[in-house]
Amino acid sequence: MAKRAAILALQMLLVTLGVRLGAEMAQSVRIIPKALLHLPEVVFGAADMRTVILSVFVAVLLAFIANRFINGWDIFASARRFAKELYAFLTGIIAASLYLFLLTGVNFSPELLLDATIFSVLFLLIAFAIVRQMRKVESAPKAFGAAFINIFTLLKSPWAWLVVAFALTPVVMAYKFTTDRDFAAAVTNLRVSANSASDLPYTLVNAVGDTRFETPIMVQFADSDPSTMYVLERNGRLYRTDYPSGMNKTLLLDLRAAVGDVEMENGALGFDLHPQFGTDSENSAFLYVYYTEFRADGQTNRLERYDMSPSTEEERRATRLPLIAQERNADGYHNGGSVEFGPDGMLYLALGEASDASCHQRIDCGFKGGIFRIDVDMQGGEISKPISRQPENGSSANYYIPLDNPFVGTPDAMEEFWALGLRNPFRIGFDSETGELWAGEVGSTVWEEVNRIEKGGNYQFPYIEGREVQDGKTKPETIIGTEHPPVYTYKHTAFLRSVIGGSPYHGSVVAEADGHYVFLDNYSGEVFTLPLDAETVETVDVLARAKDVAQRGPTSLIQAPDGNILITVMGDNDQPTGMVAKLVSSDSDEGEAAAEEARIAENAAPAAAPLSPAQVNSLWGTNCARCHGAEGRGDGPDSQELGAYVPDFTDPNYHKWRSDEALKQVLIGGGSAVGQSPMMPPWEGVLSDREMDSLIQHVRDFEDEG
Ligand code: HEC
Repeated sequence: MAKRAAILALQMLLVTLGVRLGAEMAQSVRIIPKALLHLPEVVFGAADMRTVILSVFVAVLLAFIANRFINGWDIFASARRFAKELYAFLTGIIAASLYLFLLTGVNFSPELLLDATIFSVLFLLIAFAIVRQMRKVESAPKAFGAAFINIFTLLKSPWAWLVVAFALTPVVMAYKFTTDRDFAAAVTNLRVSANSASDLPYTLVNAVGDTRFETPIMVQFADSDPSTMYVLERNGRLYRTDYPSGMNKTLLLDLRAAVGDVEMENGALGFDLHPQFGTDSENSAFLYVYYTEFRADGQTNRLERYDMSPSTEEERRATRLPLIAQERNADGYHNGGSVEFGPDGMLYLALGEASDASCHQRIDCGFKGGIFRIDVDMQGGEISKPISRQPENGSSANYYIPLDNPFVGTPDAMEEFWALGLRNPFRIGFDSETGELWAGEVGSTVWEEVNRIEKGGNYQFPYIEGREVQDGKTKPETIIGTEHPPVYTYKHTAFLRSVIGGSPYHGSVVAEADGHYVFLDNYSGEVFTLPLDAETVETVDVLARAKDVAQRGPTSLIQAPDGNILITVMGDNDQPTGMVAKLVSSDSDEGEAAAEEARIAENAAPAAAPLSPAQVNSLWGTNCARCHGAEGRGDGPDSQELGAYVPDFTDPNYHKWRSDEALKQVLIGGGSAVGQSPMMPPWEGVLSDREMDSLIQHVRDFEDEG
C-alpha cells in the first residue's frame, strides 16, 4: 500500500516538474511553427500558472487512479503496462487543457501544453527505465526502448486510438479558434460567462447616493467629523458633501484658473485637511492642496494652504499661502501627488521625479522623486527648525523642517527628504495601527511597485525597477540612505499598467481586507490585497474589479472613518460622470442591484448617434494611443514592450482585408478572442457599443489616402 502511494506520488512529482519546465520553455522557444498555428505570444502570471498546474495535477491524478483500477497497480510490471500509464497521462493532461481552454480565464497556449507533455512523458519514461534497472529486470536503456516501442504497439488497441483522437481535440480547437471567428466568439462567450467579473467577492457602487463628480481624484475626511466628505476634482475644484447621503454638495474652492491646462498627468492631484480641522484650534480650517500649474510657457508644481473659514469661495481662495513651488520641464509627467498628514502630525508629500534624470538619486536638487516631510505648524524648539535651503528652480516657505528628518545636517541636502529613489509615488497611505507608510509607485514601461516607506529609505530608481537591474542605468557608488526593494512588484500586461497605491485596512466592513494593504491598478480596475505583515509577497488576491470603470481611471483608495473602502473614479473630462465609489459584497442587495442595473443599461443602450470628434479623440487618447500611437501608426509609447506586432492603421493595405465586423470582434473580445495577440485587450464592459463603433470609424480614418 505504502509502495503504491509512493509510486503515485513520484509520478505526480515528475508530471508537476514537467509542466513547470514546459512553461519555462514555452516562454522562450517556440516549437509549434507559426505556419501551422498562428499562436499569440502568451504571458502567464503567477496566478495563471497556479491554475494550470493545479488543473493538470488533479486531472492526471484522477486518470492515473482510474487506470490502476482497470489495468492493475504495478505500472512497472511490463513495458506494455507502463505504456498504458502514459496513455492515461495523456488523457489527464488533455482533459485539463480542455478545461483551461473552455472554462477559465487563463490565456490558453497549445505551445505550453505540448512542452509540458513532452517533458512529463520524458521524465516518466526515464523513471520507468531506472526502476527496471534497479529491479534488475533489464538495463535502463533497454527498458527505455521497450517502453517507447510499446507506446506504438499499443496503437493496435481501439482504446489507444480513442485517446489519440481525444488528444487531437485541443489542437483542432486551437486551429478553429485562430481561423474561425464564430467559433472563437462562441468559446470567448463561454469563457466570459464562466469567469464573469461578478464572481469576485466585492463590487463597486456609488458611495454617496446619486451624487457625481467631474474627474474626482482624492477624497478625505476630517478626523473630527466622520459625516462630512471632502472631494478634490482634478480640474481644481474642491467639494464638501454630507456622508454618506451625498446631500448638500458645496463648492469650497475653485482652483481651475490656477491649475491651468489639465493634460495626461496634470491637475489638482492631492490634498489633506489639517489634523485639527473642525476643532477649536487656530488650525481648525486649514487645508493643503498640491497641484500642477500647467501653461504653454511652463509648469510649476505647488503645495499651498487655504483657509476654509471665510463664507464665500472667493474669500477662501484669497487666503492662499504658498509652501512649495517647484518649476519643472513642461512634459507634464511624473508629478506624484499625495498629501497626507501622518500620525505624528507632520505633513508628508509624495512627489515624482518630474522626468528630470539629472536629479535621480540626489537629495540636493529639488522636490523631485521622493517622499518629503514638513512641519506646517512651525513648532520650533526641539521639534523643528526653519528651512535651511531653497530648491533649485523653485521656492519654499511657511513651514519648518522636523529635526528628526533623516537628512537633517547632511551638507547641501534638502532636509525635507524623508525617502528617495522613487519614480512616481502617486498615492501613499498610513497604517492607522502601526503608523507605517505605504506607497504605490508607478513604474515605467514594465514594472509597478508597492513599497513600505522607511525613514531615509532609498527605493532604487532608476537603477532597479521592480526587482530587475535596469540596463544602462548605473548604481551610484555611494548610496544615499538605505536601499529597500519593493514589498510587491508586478509586470505590465495588456490589462495591468499603473498602480494606484491605497490604504492599509483595519476593520470589518470589508472583512477580507482586514490586516491587508488594499490598492488597485488604474487600467485593469482590479482591487488587490496583500498582507500588511509580509516582508515581500509574490502574488496578491483580487477583491473586486471595477470592470465598467477600468481604463477610465480609478485614482485613489482610502478607508473611510465608517470602515468603508472608498475609491475615486475619474469618468469623462468635462462631464459629471466620475464618482466616489465604495466596495460592497457582490452578494449583498446593493451589489446585486448594481449588477442588475448594469445589465439593464447594457440591453437598453440605444443605437445612438456617433460621438463627437472631440469625444472620440479623447477615448483614443486615454485607451488606445499608448499602444497604437496618437496617429494610429502602431508606435505608441508601450508598443515596444508588448512583444507583439501592433498594426499600422495608416497603411491602406491593412484596411483592404478587414471588415468592420471583424474589427468589432477584436475590440469586444480582445486579440485572444480571434487568435491574435492577447496584448490587444478586450473592451467589452469597458467601452459601450456606441463608443466601439465610433472608434472603429476612427481607425478607418487613419488610412493614408495619398
Ligand atoms: C496594450 C496595448 C493595446 C491597447 C491599449 C490597444 N490595443 Fe489594439 N491592438 C494591440 C495589438 C498588439 C494588436 C495586434 C494584434 C495582433 O494582430 O496580433 C492590436 C490590434 C488592434 C486592431 C486590429 C484588429 C485586426 O483584426 O487587425 C484594432 C482595430 C485595434 N487594436 C483597436 C484598438 C482600439 C480602438 C483600442 C482602444 C480602445 C486599442 N486597440 C487598444 C494592442 C493594443
